[in-house]
Formats: sequence, structure tokens, C-alpha cells
Amino acid sequence: MEWGLQNRLSRIIKPNNNRALMLAVDHGYFLGPTEKLENPKKVIAPLLRHCDSLMLTRGVQRTSVDPKSETPMVLRVSGGSSIIGDDLSQEDITVSLEEALRLNASAVAMSIFVGSKYEYQTIVNLGKLVNEAEKYGMPVLAVTAVGKELGKDARYLSLACRVAAEQGAHIVKTYYCDNFEKVVESCPVPIIVAGGKKIPERDALQLTYNAIKAGAVGLDMGRNIWQSEHPVAMIKAARSIIHGNSNVEQAYSLYKKLSANDKSNNPNQKKNKSNNPNQKKK
Ligand code: R5P
Repeated sequence: MEWGLQNRLSRIIKPNNNRALMLAVDHGYFLGPTEKLENPKKVIAPLLRHCDSLMLTRGVQRTSVDPKSETPMVLRVSGGSSIIGDDLSQEDITVSLEEALRLNASAVAMSIFVGSKYEYQTIVNLGKLVNEAEKYGMPVLAVTAVGKELGKDARYLSLACRVAAEQGAHIVKTYYCDNFEKVVESCPVPIIVAGGKKIPERDALQLTYNAIKAGAVGLDMGRNIWQSEHPVAMIKAARSIIHGNSNVEQAYSLYKKLSANDKSNNPNQKKNKSNNPNQKKK
């Protein structure tokens, strides 16, 4: 593997333990102002130092992340549909590799919609993105998107992950499911697990633990961190599983202990001054 590609990958998947904790804040690219992510700058700031990398869009990176940050950025480069449009699977590449390099991305990310109406378009786009990205030593993270009509079982996710890896994706992000070992076994590149919809904190930590035990290298969690009443406590608890080898009880105890002391670090409870240029300063 070429030096640049290997170096970028090692910013995302830590070489000392082959584990990754990615914080996902890219939801607005099709959901708009997602609940508790209405103000990305306020949400990201206290969490940034606790993740290994941040997954986001260029708009949020430019407006809501301090350029002096040393946290590696995983830049979403696909989009084109919204939650109120006809079909979420109709995505294209919307950000160039030159732009990703200008933004000092450590990887680029896009979704494929296996089994959907736009399966062909999104899979071909992935192959083309890999062609382009490899010229610059840029890793590609493929997201196996799921929707109402797409499955979330091991059979479907194994198929989707394998298709992504066969196109040359360097990392695949998918969802946890029963028999997840089967998904990991048949995917020749590292798998990172998304958190999915908000569930109780203990359940989200159980999901994290199960995914790692089944062979995932890590987590790309969003809603189960910043929709928690205690996002910093939650990311630290997830981190203790991924990088500290905690079990679920230990991680949940840490969450409870930190959240009991959490008076200042919860952007979802505080009424901070707005950073929205469209709102007048009071
Ligand atoms: C979804 O399309 C986004 O790419 C998210 O990054 C992904 O779903 C992970 O976030 P969450 O843990 O909220 O599912």
C-alpha cells in the first residue's frame, strides 16, 4: 500500500490496536437540521477531542469545525436527495477530490444503495471514486445505506459490504445485525458500525461491544452520542469499549458516573449563545 494511503488510513484506524472511533455528524446532508444536531458547531466542540475522526460534510467542516483542530476529517462526498424527495437512493458524487484535498480530508465517504432503484448508479460511482481517490492516496469509506425497503439482516449486509469491498472501498461502514460475524468474515476490508436510531445508552454500549466482539474495527456513531442527554459521557463510555477494552457494565458505569457530574459539558441542555450568522446577537 502506498505511503499516503497508509498514513491517512492510520489516522482513522489506530495502528496500535486496529480500532477506530468515528463521530458521525453528516446527517444534515439529507435530513436537514436533525434533532439535537441543529447547531453542529455547539455539538461538535466538546466531543472533538474524544473521537479519533469526525465524519461530516464540507459545509459543516467549513462553518463548524476549528481549522486548528488536529482531529482527522472523513468527508462525505455524496448527496443529491433529501428526506422529503422521491427517492433517497438517488445520490451522486457532489464533492471533488481536489476539494477533499483542500479540506485536508483523511478519507472520503459515500453511500451505496444495494438493491435499490439507483443501485447501479451508486455502485458505479463508488468504483469511479476509488479510481480518482487512489491517484491521491485518499482512502474511500463506503457506507452501505439502508432504508425502509432495504434489509438490515446478515444476508443483506454481507452482500452490500462485499459489493463495496469488491469495488475497492478501503473501509466499509454498515449496520450491526444478528450474526454480524458473518458480515465481517466475508468482507475483506475493515468494517465500522453505525449506531443507528437513538436507543437507551446501555443498549448502544451493548451494540458497540457486540460489534467489536464480532470483528468490527470500530464505530461511526452519531445519534446515540449527540442525542444522548450526556454526549461527552456517552462518547467517553463508547471509547472505553473501543480503546480501553471495557465490557458493557464497566462502560455503562462510566457513563452513569460521568453523567451524574455533567453540569457543564452538555450542548443539548445548555442555552449557549448562537453561532448562527442568521440570528441577531442578543
Ligand atoms: C447516515 O447516512 C450517516 O452517514 C451517518 O453517519 C450514519 O448513519 C452514522 O450515524 P448514526 O450513528 O446516527 O446512525
